[in-house]
Amino acid sequence: MDKQNQLQHVAFIMDGNGRWAKKRHLPRHLGHKEGCERVIEIYEECYDQGIRVMSLYAFSTENWSRPKAEINHLFNYLELFFKREIDRLIRDGSKVIVSGDVSQLPPKIRKTISESIKLTENCKNFTFNICLNYGGKAEILRAVKGIAEDYKNGTISLDEITENKFEDYLYTKGLPPVDLLIRTSGELRTSNFLPWQLAYSEFMFPTTTWPDFTKEEFRKCLDEFKNRNRRFGGLSNEEK
Ligand code: IPE
Ligand code: IPE
Ligand code: MG
Repeated sequence: MDKQNQLQHVAFIMDGNGRWAKKRHLPRHLGHKEGCERVIEIYEECYDQGIRVMSLYAFSTENWSRPKAEINHLFNYLELFFKREIDRLIRDGSKVIVSGDVSQLPPKIRKTISESIKLTENCKNFTFNICLNYGGKAEILRAVKGIAEDYKNGTISLDEITENKFEDYLYTKGLPPVDLLIRTSGELRTSNFLPWQLAYSEFMFPTTTWPDFTKEEFRKCLDEFKNRNRRFGGLSNEEK
């Protein structure tokens, strides 16, 4: 495979849970429940395909505007997910990290997540990046403040502020950039997800809702990715 089409990091905007439930005359939260089932299925496929990193948009800084009951259901399902799957993540050597401000989350989910992080901190095979209370603008602002702080206390000079260095101040420090972004359910926007990390990603917007996004659907995206011509501002191999 062309080196430019090697897939190291895939990011998902898991959208359409509500629509999946509505179509079945079910309460919205059951869409989130079913969505959690797809998370482990798609994780498994990423792992089996030799992908190194998976980022999942699970809760945005904007999602606080939803009804409290829906938010609580969502966090409960996420907590159950980690309780149920942590042994398998450990077995696989998959490291759990969180992107986002967890200090604002309910104590129960915070505890479960921090245990999962602790239990997998030395894992090296795969990174499972769950984006919780994540907002891209908030992340960039946080990085800017971190750099300003270090500049003020003299640990960084102006010349040292490079693109690489800036990445050390993001939640995704040390991770490769996103190669492929998949947003399910057909909305054509990124909704404040990983603006820095997506700068040169390939985008796909399958119309399937997230709870219906099976391994087979994902494999179709992976096949399409192989045929994308990633130029990174240069020329493709045929043009050289
Ligand atoms: C995505 O599904 C899940 C989260 C935002 C947490 P939605 O709940 O946004 O589903 P739709 O977009 O209403 O169908
Ligand atoms: C984006 O989906 C956030 C997550 C998937 C967690 P939303 O459903 O919240 O996004 P909008 O409102 O359609 O932009
Ligand atoms: Mg949505």
